[in-house]
Amino acid sequence: MAQEVRGVVAPGKDEPVRIETIVVPDPGPGEAVVKIQACGVCHTDLHYKQGGISDDFPFLLGHEAAGVVESVGTGVTDVAPGDFVVLNWRAVCGKCRACTRGRPWYCFDTHNAEQKMTLASTGQELSPALGIGAFAEKTLVAAGQCTKVDPAVSAEVAGLLGCGVMAGIGAAINTGNVGRGDTVAVIGCGGVGDAAIAGSHLAGAAKVIAVDIDDRKLETARSMGATHTVNSRETDPVEAIRELTGGFGADVVIEAVGRPETYRQAFYARDLAGTVVLVGVPTPEMKLELPLLDVFGRGGSLKSSWYGDCLPSRDFPMLVDLHLQGRLDLGKFVTETVGLDQVEHAFDRMHAGDVLRSVVVL
Ligand code: APR
Ligand code: ZN
Ligand code: ZN
Repeated sequence: MAQEVRGVVAPGKDEPVRIETIVVPDPGPGEAVVKIQACGVCHTDLHYKQGGISDDFPFLLGHEAAGVVESVGTGVTDVAPGDFVVLNWRAVCGKCRACTRGRPWYCFDTHNAEQKMTLASTGQELSPALGIGAFAEKTLVAAGQCTKVDPAVSAEVAGLLGCGVMAGIGAAINTGNVGRGDTVAVIGCGGVGDAAIAGSHLAGAAKVIAVDIDDRKLETARSMGATHTVNSRETDPVEAIRELTGGFGADVVIEAVGRPETYRQAFYARDLAGTVVLVGVPTPEMKLELPLLDVFGRGGSLKSSWYGDCLPSRDFPMLVDLHLQGRLDLGKFVTETVGLDQVEHAFDRMHAGDVLRSVVVL
């Protein structure tokens, strides 16, 4: 039977979020209902609220979540009630050209639950953020969005793998292929950049240079594994990175801001034949101009990283295991835990740059 639970809803453009009673249907074929234990507050949730992603209000916010599967629909075999899972927003189809060529992280046809959750008061259909909607006691997702991980990890840590932390770690280890002895520079040290730093450290990078315009962020970056820091408000980051790498530039530069000027810095701060990874997400009006001769002459590769090019079934359990073994401290990304009624406050703190992640604990 459909259930009524509490959830955080963005009712309209720029309106404050509200806790509403929402109706969660029983899982249909291929779907699962998950009892949410924790869900991180991400910039994307704020973008939804501001109308920056689509106009499909009302949104059920929240998408960096972990919880326990409560029930599954017919045909679901990979997860079962009682499983502790991290939710992902790219349940791969297994059938498209990318999937059949063995590159499921590029899947062109990822899916979400088919049934809709609704507002109890009006019956209006809700649009779940990134097809998840996890600032709620329970949510309905496609079963493929649930990845089982070791339940020994705390939910507030595990949930972060569902988005920003995975994007950053994946930008380093999957897209950038950072390896032992590499020099890495990371431009922008928010949650995503810090995760790229932690990922580079984990992969054995010899030098990890953190670049930001905020000294507070640079301090945190050090605790994540940065060996050097550059405040790019005071120092030209391209020159500083070259100086720190014997005049060459870094093997891999990860751009975790998403702006043309920081991309240009990344482009010129890498060594000849090095790699640039763009994991920061630009906005539609942004344009990039570079001398084509430099693009050719400097060689190497210019890559984008979607969601850290992750494959949840491969990466989530592995990163949880490394965390539990003490080799990757994911707990550092949780600045504070808050209640369901504090999402608006968490948005303010995020906007002010005061937190890496606030995590709603249910
Ligand atoms: N140069 C260097 N650092 C900058 C600059 C700049 N010009 N402008 C902003 N920054 C820094 C900020 O000081 C902050 O530390 O970039 C960081 C951005 O961090 P957050 O706002 O916390 O964002 P985060 O969650 O890390 O996401 C970064 O990745 O997934 C995308 O949409 C996301 O585009 C965003 C990016
Ligand atoms: Zn596919
Ligand atoms: Zn997110």
